[in-house]
Amino acid sequence: MLTIAIVAMVSTEYWNQAGTTKTFGNPLELTWLAGVSRQASIVDYGCGYGRLAGELLAAGYTDIEGFDVSAPLIERAGQEHPAARFTVLEDPPRLPREDASVDVLLLFAVLTCVPDSDAQRGIIAEIRRVLKPGGLFYLSDYCLQEDERNRTRYRAQEARFGLYGMFETSDGAICRHHERAWLRELLTGFEVARERDVPVVTMNNNPAIATQFLARR
Ligand SMILES: C[S@@+](CC[C@H](N)C(=O)[O-])C[C@H]1O[C@@H](n2cnc3c(N)ncnc32)[C@H](O)[C@@H]1O
Repeated sequence: MLTIAIVAMVSTEYWNQAGTTKTFGNPLELTWLAGVSRQASIVDYGCGYGRLAGELLAAGYTDIEGFDVSAPLIERAGQEHPAARFTVLEDPPRLPREDASVDVLLLFAVLTCVPDSDAQRGIIAEIRRVLKPGGLFYLSDYCLQEDERNRTRYRAQEARFGLYGMFETSDGAICRHHERAWLRELLTGFEVARERDVPVVTMNNNPAIATQFLARR
């Protein structure tokens, strides 16, 4: 538990500093939300500077709330997208929302920066708690990459972290790329409706493949 707390502290510091200079790019496939009412309650967990809220507002969705551990990112999100609501998460993964009160939950490139398996399970349990029965969980994250640059860093840092796929970036972010089976395990109990792999540019400007799931509670 102490290790989780230390990694979380380091992580928040990273997002408050280096994180504020980054551009995030995991793409939102709006057609996956076809059929979702424009008045639906949408929560973006780990919303960063509100990139996805901006896309949802532009598409006509009206009830969007973003949560993030980073106060500077939340402040920027509020300035750039005043029509959405943004809140700093004081006690992650606890969301200040009622049980079964959310129609759609987005979790984009957050698991990758919360590498501990138990911490990831905690986020997913919280998502399950706040989603309405039948609500949608849209997950976008990174499976293990197959290019040589990534494989080299997985191998080089496996002993340090005790997990193949976990690494520290050159600017100090501690990240995890996942076994696909692990992401599927996290989705146990959800009904997976869609899955795709999509090319992205990471926040450190490297090409990668993101994996996305649309799952129903
Ligand atoms: C790679 S960024 C992605 C931001 C946003 N989801 C997007 O795709 O534009 C990861 C975000 O997760 C946030 N984050 C990191 N650890 C978190 C945690 N334990 N709970 C909530 N947010 C967290 C960071 O502050 C950062 O904004």
